[in-house]
Amino acid sequence: MKKKIPTHIAIIMDGNGRWAQKRGLPRNFGHRKGAETLLKTVRYANKLGIKYLTVYAFSTENWKRPKEEVEYLMNLPFQFLERTNKEFKNENIKIKIIGTKNKLPEKLINKIIEVEKNTENNTGLNLIIAFNYGGKEEIVSAVKRLTQSNLEINEENLEKFLYTENIPNVDLLIRTSGEYRISNFLLWQTAYSELYFTDVLWPDFNKKCFDDALNEYNKRERRFGGLK
Ligand code: IPE
Ligand code: IPE
Ligand code: MG
Repeated sequence: MKKKIPTHIAIIMDGNGRWAQKRGLPRNFGHRKGAETLLKTVRYANKLGIKYLTVYAFSTENWKRPKEEVEYLMNLPFQFLERTNKEFKNENIKIKIIGTKNKLPEKLINKIIEVEKNTENNTGLNLIIAFNYGGKEEIVSAVKRLTQSNLEINEENLEKFLYTENIPNVDLLIRTSGEYRISNFLLWQTAYSELYFTDVLWPDFNKKCFDDALNEYNKRERRFGGLK
């Protein structure tokens, strides 16, 4: 039987801190390793022909962490984007960052604009990085903009004001690190997603883990409230 490849996969990349602590290293080492894992995962997803990959890199709740860790996490995407800007352009990967921009360092905001522009005509994998992202915040902002428009208030129109406008809803949501929760990620877009949880800590996530998730997805029967 031919394998179904999900159109849109979302990943809650969790467990960086525990990965480092298990090795007696500072938590930030886990974040650095996690960024490498992201790079490999993006390339693999592109090779598999996945159209949309949305990854959770920093939540609106992560500001509660110690200042040193927040600073590190604010710097990491800058380095990631600087490194991948050229490489992803050549690999036909299109990058988009979703979340609230105004609290981010200016240097990062400028880098985001540069990379989104540089890769905008690419037609392969769409990599969507959720950074300073909160699902509730996204819905509130969409509701505000919808009520200011002349459009009728309905589901289809509300979706036009989400950060994921024109992006299909999530087919498969993966969370690493053995936590079984959504943590304010893509609340609207995962209304009918298949959920997959693994104990693997994000820095250890590899092709085999990705394949396992895809195999499990293939066993699921999606009914969307209907009958078989
Ligand atoms: C996920 O790893 C990355 C972010 C939330 C930024 P964590 O930093 O949450 O790692 P754990 O869950 O503490 O192990
Ligand atoms: C969710 O992980 C956010 C990201 C992976 C960026 P957290 O580690 O922040 O979530 P909780 O605190 O376990 O719910
Ligand atoms: Mg965590």
